[in-house]
Amino acid sequence: MSKLIASNLHRRFREGGQDLHVLRGVDLDVRDREWLAILGRSGSGKSTLLHLLGGLDRPTEGSVAFNGDDLFKLPGGKLDRYRNAHVGFVFQFYHLLPELNALENVLVSSMIGSSAFAWPGRKRAARQRAAELLGRVGLAERLRHRPNKLSGGERQRVAIARALMNAPDVLLADEPTGNLDADTSASIIELFRSLHAAGQTIVMVTHDDAVASAADRQVTLVEGRLSTSAG
Ligand SMILES: Nc1ncnc2c1ncn2[C@@H]1O[C@H](COP(=O)(O)OP(=O)(O)OP(=O)(O)O)[C@@H](O)[C@H]1O
Ligand SMILES: [Mg+2]
Repeated sequence: MSKLIASNLHRRFREGGQDLHVLRGVDLDVRDREWLAILGRSGSGKSTLLHLLGGLDRPTEGSVAFNGDDLFKLPGGKLDRYRNAHVGFVFQFYHLLPELNALENVLVSSMIGSSAFAWPGRKRAARQRAAELLGRVGLAERLRHRPNKLSGGERQRVAIARALMNAPDVLLADEPTGNLDADTSASIIELFRSLHAAGQTIVMVTHDDAVASAADRQVTLVEGRLSTSAG
């Protein structure tokens, strides 16, 4: 069964009088429970594509279907719900909230997903889950640190814990090991492996062949289109 189907995706950017045609007809079928790696050189459009899959940006042309629904034809509220309830997004540059500590950053997504009435009753369990996820990424001792008191790799791991908070159907991770040393990178890949073994669907962007080879399947963005690559 397919989880996400991208059909004929195009994305153009108009910037400084230039028309940049970044995605030029991307077709991609992400199967349920699959772990997919997207490769490609810097500037090839990997983040652009991942943002479209997460409903964070709109294509110039083409569609993305999640469990059969065309994301960009959903009414606004349903698209918000898709982003919040079904997708966990690890941004390439983390996007943590600077005023919040690690634990609070992870909690934010579950607060957003809860009504103001339901939240007080759920808060305790949510804090417990957030702390547990931070423990899984090796940050049990950093719960109260704000992002500016964390190293780059630690911020990246907070972002991964945050993405997992709502138990998303699809984990979309943009260079999740981009700032990590070999050992920490290996531990994140181990975490992804165990998530994958438990049935998590994962789409991961990486430029690291060793990281990519942990996935089930590798595709490469070349000149705005995807080609299957050996891995
Ligand atoms: N909002 C935007 N406005 C204008 N141009 C953009 C915008 N977002 C991306 N681009 C351009 O689109 C191209 C692809 O960007 P993207 O961030 O998707 O690349 P990438 O493959 O993720 O690269 P990297 O490996 O360096 O992260 C780049 O040339 C970039 O300048
Ligand atoms: Mg990128």
